[in-house]
Amino acid sequence: MGIDAAGARPGPAPPSPPQPASQRRLPVLGVASEMFPLLKTGGLADVVGALPAALAEHGVDLTTLLPGHPAVVAGLEGGQVRAQWPEWFGGPARVLSGRHRNAELLVLDAPHLYARHGNPYLDASGRDWSDNALRYAALALAAARIGWGEVDGLAPAVLHAHDWQAALVPVYQHYLGAGKRRAPTLLTLHNLAFQGQFGAAAWAQLRLPDAAFSTQGLEYHGDIGFLKGGLHFADAISTVSPSYAEEILTLAGGMGLDAMLRWRRERLHGIVNGLDTEAWDPAHDPALARTYDADTLERRAANRREIEACFGLPEAESPLLCMVSRLTTQKGIDLVAQALDAIVGAGARLVVLGAGEAAVESALQSAAARHPQRVAVRIGYDESLAHLLHGGADAILVPSRFEPCGLTQLSGQRYGCVPVVARVGGLADTVIDANHAAIAAGVATGVQFGELSAEGVLGAVQRTLRLHRDRAAWRSMQRAGMRADLGWRASAGLYAALYRQLAQETP
Ligand code: ADP
Ligand code: GLC
Repeated sequence: MGIDAAGARPGPAPPSPPQPASQRRLPVLGVASEMFPLLKTGGLADVVGALPAALAEHGVDLTTLLPGHPAVVAGLEGGQVRAQWPEWFGGPARVLSGRHRNAELLVLDAPHLYARHGNPYLDASGRDWSDNALRYAALALAAARIGWGEVDGLAPAVLHAHDWQAALVPVYQHYLGAGKRRAPTLLTLHNLAFQGQFGAAAWAQLRLPDAAFSTQGLEYHGDIGFLKGGLHFADAISTVSPSYAEEILTLAGGMGLDAMLRWRRERLHGIVNGLDTEAWDPAHDPALARTYDADTLERRAANRREIEACFGLPEAESPLLCMVSRLTTQKGIDLVAQALDAIVGAGARLVVLGAGEAAVESALQSAAARHPQRVAVRIGYDESLAHLLHGGADAILVPSRFEPCGLTQLSGQRYGCVPVVARVGGLADTVIDANHAAIAAGVATGVQFGELSAEGVLGAVQRTLRLHRDRAAWRSMQRAGMRADLGWRASAGLYAALYRQLAQETP
């Protein structure tokens, strides 16, 4: 007779042994200005949106603090008031908790600062809101107070601040945190081109001691430098690819902060972005005319037809290139505009979806106007159309002058839309160039080029078109990209390890 499990009465449960720190779940507070799908102007939102689920698998409970923009407040499910501050940088504020889908959120609901529709950083005329210093100081000081344990029930072990909008978190901790609970800070740089630099007139509103307006603090060429201050005081700094972590230490890539970054280099990490492979999945993408996978690539033809219809191009078989991008100098769009006649002459077509700087938009539009049958530009932001372009175009151009990581070369690979990228930053780290050896080994996932000029872009497009004519090589490249490990698993593990290290270092 076997043992009757039901009858085997256990005695009192033995006390469970204390869990080693490495296995305990770690509460972390992320602090950011945007988060997909609630509010997005670029890749920052994608990363902030993907991290909570990715980190959950590594034992991290990541809650994200966001400013209470209308779209964020509207998307908050199960909102509860956790704190009320009658006077918060010029008006009343509340800290709300809740969730969106599976992500835990805290929202700084301060209508005088954030109840503005549209782009979070710019007014209707495209200029920075004049009170941006105040708006993001308010966010950072709220995060610092949560870190100090001033909001009941919240005790993050680490504060993870993203970009200049959250860069004052370590600054407030340093200047106002004496004698308080201390959570270590990680500051992640998504793009050094945006530094949060403000005229000294904003100083009086920041609630910092005058001593902080010095070269050892926030003073930056006579102005106030949010990012500069954050880099000075963060316990650790990360950026979004290993190559960009190297580039920003140089005079050419450091955008004025290279000396500061070299001083902090022992604390600087490069952790490459992943892709949200659920949001970007060609086999289950409602934005596509036809879904597909690596074994049914011929179905992409239906998506190409849909693109042609959307953009008013005649149906054709010639290679279709696309770009989905902010239209700014960073992204090298002007180089594409300059090379466009020759690109079309080489036999390619191009569709562009993007918005950004007026000069870049109009350079592209006037070049496109010369080739109405072969080039089309859509100015605007359209998530579904972006997916469709990935699902039907042959290749996606990313000719950036610098690129901290970049996400469209990842989503391009996932969709068999071969990325053609400048060999900089995260683009260099995430695309395997179709050189002879890589093609022979079947591991190439795209085309890289070195010369950042119109000639360089043209040369890369010509090489892409040659590869496209070799159907076997092209298919192999598409499939290698689609099967590549592009998700967050590995990088989330690196963030989790860094959080644990910071938490352990802090008594
Ligand atoms: P950056 O953050 O510098 O703009 P990334 O490549 O990291 O560049 O991220 C850009 C993100 O924004 C990607 O998810 C891309 O698909 C998306 N995107 C950019 N422009 C548009 C647009 N006009 N419409 C829809 N999505 C866009
Ligand atoms: C920035 C960078 C981009 C990066 C994104 C997310 O916007 O320009 O390269 O992918 O942040 O980290």
